[in-house]
Amino acid sequence: MVRWCLLIGMTILAANQHSEAGDEVTPHVVLGIHGGIGEDKKDMTPELEVKVRAALNAALKAGKLKLDEGGSSLDAIEAAIRVMEDDPVLNAGRGAVFTHEGRNELDASIMDGKTKKAGSVASVTVIKNPISAARAVMEKSKHVMLIGRGAEVFATRQGLEIVDPNYFWTKHQWDSISEIWKQEAAEEAKKKGNCDENSTSESPSLRKPHFGTVGAVAIDKNGNLAAGTSTGGMTNKMFGRVGDSPIIGAGTYAENETAAISCTGHGEFFIRFAVSHEIVSQIKYKKVTAKEAVEDVINGQLKGVNAEGAAIVLDKHGQFTTARNSEGLYRGWITSEGKTQVRLYDE
Ligand code: GLY
Repeated sequence: MVRWCLLIGMTILAANQHSEAGDEVTPHVVLGIHGGIGEDKKDMTPELEVKVRAALNAALKAGKLKLDEGGSSLDAIEAAIRVMEDDPVLNAGRGAVFTHEGRNELDASIMDGKTKKAGSVASVTVIKNPISAARAVMEKSKHVMLIGRGAEVFATRQGLEIVDPNYFWTKHQWDSISEIWKQEAAEEAKKKGNCDENSTSESPSLRKPHFGTVGAVAIDKNGNLAAGTSTGGMTNKMFGRVGDSPIIGAGTYAENETAAISCTGHGEFFIRFAVSHEIVSQIKYKKVTAKEAVEDVINGQLKGVNAEGAAIVLDKHGQFTTARNSEGLYRGWITSEGKTQVRLYDE
């Protein structure tokens, strides 16, 4: 009896160790995607939910089509992420957040699990699809990472689509940065003792920055894994700030021996904890499952320092899972038979 109680107690303890906000392990997955940690549930509207679900479904469809046509995991990643970059509802490409200075600076990376080749771009302002630029860096340059003007000149020379920076202007992201500017101005005025009589007596708490990102992990018929991530970064970031998304080993990693990973969350922490590489290292050296590794990093290490975020993982056996310490994670996955799941919060 005592032994049973102890066993039940230990099971409950183990189950409560993590937020349990990750998804179950799903086998036979060929493509998994995320659209970032998204809005807090209280800010989600039915209209927005429809748009987010449509964006994720379209991305899964585009990526799966590539695989069905015999394309590689890299083709699937690029196709799925391009769809999410083109959709203004997600924080990547078209829907990118604004910097403190009111500009859009985009980051992206891609990694091939077979060769461990990788490419990334950071702080780009005119490349319509940064994920395609990242792939071009990987395949058509001798470098891994290009930033700013250099990346833009390279993308232009590669014939990638270049747009006016205004292409990335969206009303909802402009409203978001405008609200932050207002709050910062009010804080500043308060510090100087300049509150005018129209300002509220309560100090407005600064809006939580938006850490949205999009990403994908895939495996093709040859068993080759790939991963990619793209983002507008963090709302109100300083110009020139680069997060984890274009950093190989932080926001993105893939190797055929273990798994493919794409992350979303507070980039500074994901860089410091080398999150995606930490996950594959745990699988490789600690001999734990992908699920155990991702839970340890997201709900153990990162949660321990109050770093918000999530990761999606596809292991070499086609088993897909996620872990998050955030309320939501826009995500979806599709199996080789075309069985699709799209989820935003606990479902
Ligand atoms: N994870 C996206 C960023 O921090 O830029």
